[in-house]
Amino acid sequence: MILHYLLLLAAVSSVLSIKCHSCLTYCKTLNGKVDPVNCDCKSPPNEQCTANACFAKVELFADEATAIVQKGCISDFPAGQRGCQYASNKDTIHCFCDQDQCNTRHKLGSYIPEHLPLVKCCDCTSRHGEDCDSECSKPCTGNYCVVDFDGKEQGCGVGYPRLPSFLRVDDYMDYEGDYLCTRYESSASNVMNGCVCTHPSGMCNEFNKTFNYQKKHVIERKNENLHYCYALMHKAYKPFGQEVFKKSSTCEGHYCFISLTTSEIVLESADFKHNYEDHDEFVGAARPRFELQAGCVKVNGEDKVQTGCTVETQGNNSEILAKHCICDSHLCNFHHLVRGTEDPRPKAAVPGVKQTTSQLNPVRLYTTNKEIDENDILSVMNGVGNFWKLGALLLTLLTCV
Ligand SMILES: *[C@@H]1O[C@H](CO)[C@@H](O)[C@H](O)[C@H]1NC(C)=O
Ligand SMILES: *[C@@H]1O[C@H](CO)[C@@H](O)[C@H](O)[C@H]1NC(C)=O
Repeated sequence: MILHYLLLLAAVSSVLSIKCHSCLTYCKTLNGKVDPVNCDCKSPPNEQCTANACFAKVELFADEATAIVQKGCISDFPAGQRGCQYASNKDTIHCFCDQDQCNTRHKLGSYIPEHLPLVKCCDCTSRHGEDCDSECSKPCTGNYCVVDFDGKEQGCGVGYPRLPSFLRVDDYMDYEGDYLCTRYESSASNVMNGCVCTHPSGMCNEFNKTFNYQKKHVIERKNENLHYCYALMHKAYKPFGQEVFKKSSTCEGHYCFISLTTSEIVLESADFKHNYEDHDEFVGAARPRFELQAGCVKVNGEDKVQTGCTVETQGNNSEILAKHCICDSHLCNFHHLVRGTEDPRPKAAVPGVKQTTSQLNPVRLYTTNKEIDENDILSVMNGVGNFWKLGALLLTLLTCV
């Protein structure tokens, strides 16, 4: 019995003591793909971070023939993903692993995405004048199908969709053949309303069928039992506190969410030529960029979402790169969740805030005063863990598969 307990204890403590490389590098692409040899940074032991899992994220900038690789720590496997996989499009590869210092190209199979089953989907873009309501006239093949109701688009995605990470599901692979449908918003102009699905028989994103499904299982589900959430979007180059919530509004959903990213990856030109076409040397870097998004989430079932927080950190004092939380009580998506601090609000105002995270590190805020000239930046990759960009991603992945 005691032995059992000790073994369990040993298992738990070993899981929590993984060291990961925490660094950023960039390289020229090789035949349009990431060059694993030249895009493999390592950090010395005193600069490594500690967590349950490690990540390496690859972003390809095709026009600039440059790849950026960022490495760090993460609290858990997003959507249960281990190994390397495209993150909805072929320009982004996300890798996760849980062995000591495992986020190297050797241990991650040179960042080559693992094979996933293929499905056939309907492909339609109403922006291009196509009639998406009628028959599925044009098929595409990918690893999952998407349908965006507000943008009236359908298409194929590659690798893992962002939605299961946003919803924090344990294992995306368990949902094969099923629908993950959501409507979430942080403001009237920032709404994601759509589904991803992987039914092997294909064409699971047929418009009328999924639209009716969405209405019944997402929009009108449990309408009598919704939570109020803060709705807010705030972006800045300097750190900010809870005062930004003064300009928040509210919305209603099955759950509330809050996400913070503290940096973004940028690709800058290494030279100073006037014409963009003449630039051929690029430098990848991370710079402070704070983006907070809070809002409400509706989803097609309690089994399609998990409350708690996912946090990505870097460096030996667990500086937060990104933190994303889902919670399930009125106005639970306040600033303290992403700061990892005590809820400063009077108790009566917030019944039963639930937070299931073991990571309670405060956000370490940057203190740079460097003025940033937008013109210096040629191409910007949004902060890692930018889950809410799904709307925009849906649109882009429709055209790039
Ligand atoms: C943490 O990392 C910094 C460099 O990033 C280093 O100067 C410092 O000594 C490290 N601290 C510890 C306790 O290893
Ligand atoms: C889908 O619904 C629209 C409007 O409700 C209708 O005009 C169209 O025929 C339907 N398409 C299919 C394939 O059922």
